[in-house]
Amino acid sequence: MSRNKRLLVSLMVAVALAASASMAMAKPIVIKFSHVVAENTPKGQMANKFKALVDERLSGKVVVEVFPNSQLFGDNKVLEVMLLGDVQMAAPALSKFEKYTQSLQIFDLPFLFKNMTAVEKFQQGPVGQKMLMSMQKKGLIGLGYLHNGMKQISSNSPLRVPADAKDKKFRIMTSDVLAAQYEAVGAMPLKKPFSEVFTLLQTKAIDGQENTWSNIYSKKFFEVQPYITESDHGVLDYLVVTSAAFWMDLPEDIRGEVKTALDEAIAFGNEVSARKAIDDRQKIVDSKRSEIIVLSDAERQLWVDAMKPVWKKFENKIGKEYISAAVESN
Ligand code: LMR
Repeated sequence: MSRNKRLLVSLMVAVALAASASMAMAKPIVIKFSHVVAENTPKGQMANKFKALVDERLSGKVVVEVFPNSQLFGDNKVLEVMLLGDVQMAAPALSKFEKYTQSLQIFDLPFLFKNMTAVEKFQQGPVGQKMLMSMQKKGLIGLGYLHNGMKQISSNSPLRVPADAKDKKFRIMTSDVLAAQYEAVGAMPLKKPFSEVFTLLQTKAIDGQENTWSNIYSKKFFEVQPYITESDHGVLDYLVVTSAAFWMDLPEDIRGEVKTALDEAIAFGNEVSARKAIDDRQKIVDSKRSEIIVLSDAERQLWVDAMKPVWKKFENKIGKEYISAAVESN
């Protein structure tokens, strides 16, 4: 090959390399968002809204891929893989962060919050905001809270007073506070992934479980649980979480736009959650598959008396001042 030809070939190779490098640079940033619930739930709707907003505003720069129904990872695995970079965002229930921070355990304390207004006030207040960053040293950042709602207890047999729960097996999320709550009424708690709950109930391997109206409805728990006690004894909310490494690596302008889209999606998800707490409860009533047990004040008080001592067990881990702030939000 002549000198000129060699020069021409190297020039062409250089041009091709530069073109492929710029194509690689132009590749959009991918945000894999993994969750465990159905798409017609507050979290499912929030994730889809987030994707739609990012598609609209950051087309070609950022792509959100949503994986619902534990398709990609269950909640017990998702935080581990997030730290490895296999997933960029998730929104596990606040009960599922025990391995990473103790402060979020506050949300599992039974009968701490009177309603979702109190929960919102606490989350947006100084303590709630501080908790968003409680896992930073472990490599996780909380980007915002998302509501689902107050939890109810479903069961094979009617539960009116705490003694009705004695010796019964209840599925719980991975939380020692929730375990203590069931032990306080003489029941047997079992930590199991959300994806297994329906089968455990259907095969009667367990007697009951606790969840929000939208989860009980969307995952059809009401079809295999003849009773649901409207206990409102605790809250099931979420933390939208990302890895600190991924988040801090985003170009500043992109990070800002992604955060704005997420905040808007969360506000939308919160509206969905408020609606679904009413609508999905009603759909369960209409189905006639499950009887909803409404407690009298005296019956409810018995549950409070039995479960509230759990606070004392965890107050040193969680922080007394945090618990006081939560009580004040009522
Ligand atoms: C559960 O495991 O019961 C919930 O955390 C599921 C969910 O994400 O709402």
